[in-house]
Amino acid sequence: AGDGPVCHRGTVLHFTGDPGDREHGNAHTHLFEDGALVVHRGHVVYAGPWESRPPAARVADHRGHLILPGFIDTHIHSGQIDAVASPGGQLLPWLKKYIYPAEMRFEDRDYAAQASWDFLNILLSAGTTTAAVHTTTYPQSTEAFFDQALRLNLRMVAGKVLMDSGGGTVPDAYLDRDWRHGQELTRDLIERYNGRRGSASDPYGSSRLCYCITPRFAPTSTLRALKAAGELYREFAGKGEPVWAQSHLAENRDEIDLVMDLFCDAFPGRRLRSYLDVYDRCGLVGPRTIWAHCVWPDHEYHPRPRKCRHRHRGPARDRQVLRARGAGVSFCPTSNLFLGSGFFRLHRTRDAGVPVGLGTDIGAGTSYSLLHTLGDAYKAVQLGNGFPDRLPEPRRHTLTALRGLYLATRGGAEALRLQDRVGSFQPGMEADFVVLDLGATPALRRRVEAAQSVHDRLFALTILGDERCTVATYVLGHPVYQRGHSPYTP
Ligand code: GUN
Ligand code: ZN
Repeated sequence: AGDGPVCHRGTVLHFTGDPGDREHGNAHTHLFEDGALVVHRGHVVYAGPWESRPPAARVADHRGHLILPGFIDTHIHSGQIDAVASPGGQLLPWLKKYIYPAEMRFEDRDYAAQASWDFLNILLSAGTTTAAVHTTTYPQSTEAFFDQALRLNLRMVAGKVLMDSGGGTVPDAYLDRDWRHGQELTRDLIERYNGRRGSASDPYGSSRLCYCITPRFAPTSTLRALKAAGELYREFAGKGEPVWAQSHLAENRDEIDLVMDLFCDAFPGRRLRSYLDVYDRCGLVGPRTIWAHCVWPDHEYHPRPRKCRHRHRGPARDRQVLRARGAGVSFCPTSNLFLGSGFFRLHRTRDAGVPVGLGTDIGAGTSYSLLHTLGDAYKAVQLGNGFPDRLPEPRRHTLTALRGLYLATRGGAEALRLQDRVGSFQPGMEADFVVLDLGATPALRRRVEAAQSVHDRLFALTILGDERCTVATYVLGHPVYQRGHSPYTP
């Protein structure tokens, strides 16, 4: 039976689109309480009711457990594995005090190889099978990351961090020599890793690695470097070998003031419209680009003029620009809370048609688990309702369990433009999935047993669940993590 289809039996849940705001979801929600997921040669051939399953060579019995597509973390830093949980106030002082020194350890190849291996295994133990990853400015750290991801055959989106301007806050040794060198190193990494072993008929390639052009954020790049990043992004798209791009956007109000000061005169003849406008005018905002945070788009925050002579004026347009360009946003609630950045407006962003995924943003985030992250997402939506004003009850939003689980899976795939590959169980999709135990802790088990409906059980999972719920994680149909059998078991 070695090579035949394998049928995984359990409660199967996946999404083919946003289930919306109602507890029971909509036609994009596919929930089979006695379900089957049939996998053949690493791909999904069937997801549906057990009684309608096609023949299989073998049954893997996960009854009592929940089978979901592997989680997709749309924003995380592998270079911060040893910096998570560092006290440091808000974003800018925290970066200087803890983050740049921690990332500088990745100059050492051996350290980078071991850290990348541990990082990926921690992700798998949390049920995460795909992530958009900032490595560090050292290309050897990006090589180490991709080499380890290749050993596990993971679909990963990652890149070397581009930084050519520190403004006095970044050690010189941690910057690219200049913008041209950063571009050359990036081009070399793209050519060696993006869709490695790929072919013209399969632009993503069989290696499943996706190169992501990664300027850290506008304050640590010169205008020339951001334009060079945009040029690379367009060059490879034009050659039919698409690459991804990612950065931070409008996370913190001090950061936005800094960006408006640094770039207010950068584009002669046109007033700088917003933080997003800097990236957009460098040609960096488009499909396969993912923007972390976006807590303070132009709708939410109008920078006060400091050195910058221009106050932001005109109608707010950031969300329309993101939507029109086909760009995605990463919602990073544990990070936004940890750094005191603010409340991301999930509903306003989704209502504007912008694809949204969930991000842990380790090391500003505080958990590798997207289940734990959903608990904080729920609370951030609760508190963010009309903040600082009160909204009347009928206009308040909440995050349902189904929508949360969509964000952690299919939503992330849509934000990264990988929804034809991962994030759901449509036939032909890559069979990356996670088996979850809703009885993993005594507190969760009692709550789930007391629940009146499957939706109550799923909600309890998103509030009380974390990596302890992961029974097994499968990549292309193969188990790569099994609880109790892995040194990475939480
Ligand atoms: N902005 C620029 N760099 C970083 C980073 O490493 N983490 C977070 N959260 N925001 C950033
Ligand atoms: Zn980040």
